[in-house]
Amino acid sequence: MRKRIFVLLFGILPIVLTAQIKVTLDADQAKTQISRNIYGHFAEHIGRLIYGGLYVGENNTSIPNTSGVRNDVIKALKDLKIPILRWPGGCFADTYHWKDAVGQKNERKPIENLAWGNVREDNSFGTTEFLNLCELLGAEPYLSVNINSGTVQEAVEWVQYANHANGTSYLTDIREKSGRDKPWNVKYWGIGNESWDCGGNMSSEHYVNLYKQYATAMTSYSNTEKLFRVAVGPGGPDTKWTEDIMKGIPARRFEGISVHHYSVTNWNNKSSSTKFTDDEYFKTMQQAWRMEDVIRVNSEMMDKYDQKKRVALIIDEWGGWYETDPEGNGQLYQQNTMRDAMIAGITLNIFNNHADRVRMANLAQIVNVLQSVILTKEEKIILTPTYHVMEMYKVHQDALLVPVQLTSTDFVMGNNRIQAVSVSASKDQSGKLHISLTNIDNIKSQVAEIDLKGFKVKQVTGRILTSPKIQDHNTFDNPTNVAPKTFNDAIISEGNLKVNMPPNSVIVLELGS
Ligand code: AHR
Repeated sequence: MRKRIFVLLFGILPIVLTAQIKVTLDADQAKTQISRNIYGHFAEHIGRLIYGGLYVGENNTSIPNTSGVRNDVIKALKDLKIPILRWPGGCFADTYHWKDAVGQKNERKPIENLAWGNVREDNSFGTTEFLNLCELLGAEPYLSVNINSGTVQEAVEWVQYANHANGTSYLTDIREKSGRDKPWNVKYWGIGNESWDCGGNMSSEHYVNLYKQYATAMTSYSNTEKLFRVAVGPGGPDTKWTEDIMKGIPARRFEGISVHHYSVTNWNNKSSSTKFTDDEYFKTMQQAWRMEDVIRVNSEMMDKYDQKKRVALIIDEWGGWYETDPEGNGQLYQQNTMRDAMIAGITLNIFNNHADRVRMANLAQIVNVLQSVILTKEEKIILTPTYHVMEMYKVHQDALLVPVQLTSTDFVMGNNRIQAVSVSASKDQSGKLHISLTNIDNIKSQVAEIDLKGFKVKQVTGRILTSPKIQDHNTFDNPTNVAPKTFNDAIISEGNLKVNMPPNSVIVLELGS
């Protein structure tokens, strides 16, 4: 209805397109590197993510694969340049005993997935398969250690299995027998997951003490001094937990703190992934913008103890969370629409703009679970709108952040309003400038005037992801319904840029000088 009124008004009134959005970029001030790891992903043993989504096994399948991992998924992830992959959970990690899933496959102990539906898994996808996959993708592995039902010794031995030289222990012998002749040198280790909830319902005091036991034992070997250890951060807006970590763990024992933030309309009554109302869309966008607050409050607390920003803030779970689709045949399986593209567009801009503190993030989750970049159904595959946003934004990986000032209009719903446009920019090694813009207003287009201080633009090219309806998505029958297109509506005028942004659109511009 809102759309119809808008169209009618436009039909009878003369339209004057004035610039509503002002953006100022200062390319001379590009100093902070945007860590490529901000564009990371997360793979937990849930539903059809690992088994069926990533891994189909080497035998008994007609789906083309490399060592059991789907070739179509490998190609899509390589095209995305995925920099880092977190595994095996999530809540699953704090029930996982990694030694049950190494060695000969027919000798592995099956497990019951206690975190997600008590499903029996045959453990054919374990540490070796995961680390080999990361190597194939050119992505860093990020392992989540079980500190709830596991032991310090198990964690120490996991580091040995992954990182120690051949012949140093019976574990490295098992590795060798599994056909792996050298260590993988895993750098990133998360010590626990949501330890205030599914990871043990601990108090921050208990967690800090336990963390220190793990972090000390895991790194007391000369060849593993360079581990990047991530401590669990707070579960909500209360930053006491963050403060307890910053005060309670010696600086030499941790390199990062993790927080999670999901865009959920209502935890007790989540919206449908595709059949959502305008109101539910607006609420999801409010939650997506809350990421800014999550980062701000935690960064402020971290700044109090770490002004040099030595410790990274890591958002190792983020994304939209809806009701599981009944037709998805998998737990936490949800379709992915233009709404998800909007979440991704806003969130990645927020991460870029906080690159000085936020140095890793992992979208939840990579295939067939929550806000996935890929959905699969037997031999079929879909690249979701979220995939396309991450693919368009990959130009920011490792580039230098260009500081941005933005004056935006608001996206209004009843008495509520949120910022309609978000932006970030970076300069890459070849001197090209990339600007990513997202207009989350699903009714109004926006005109952005971009003042390019310190950059003499000669040419501009661009790509856009947009679709008439915010509910639009790709299906197995129509996998390219939503896909990026060439964008020609950025005009250079007197050294600056004027960009016409349609409703619900994500645009990435490339500027050459
Ligand atoms: O991503 C799904 C779940 O959400 C994870 O297992 C848990 O860490 C979080 O609560």
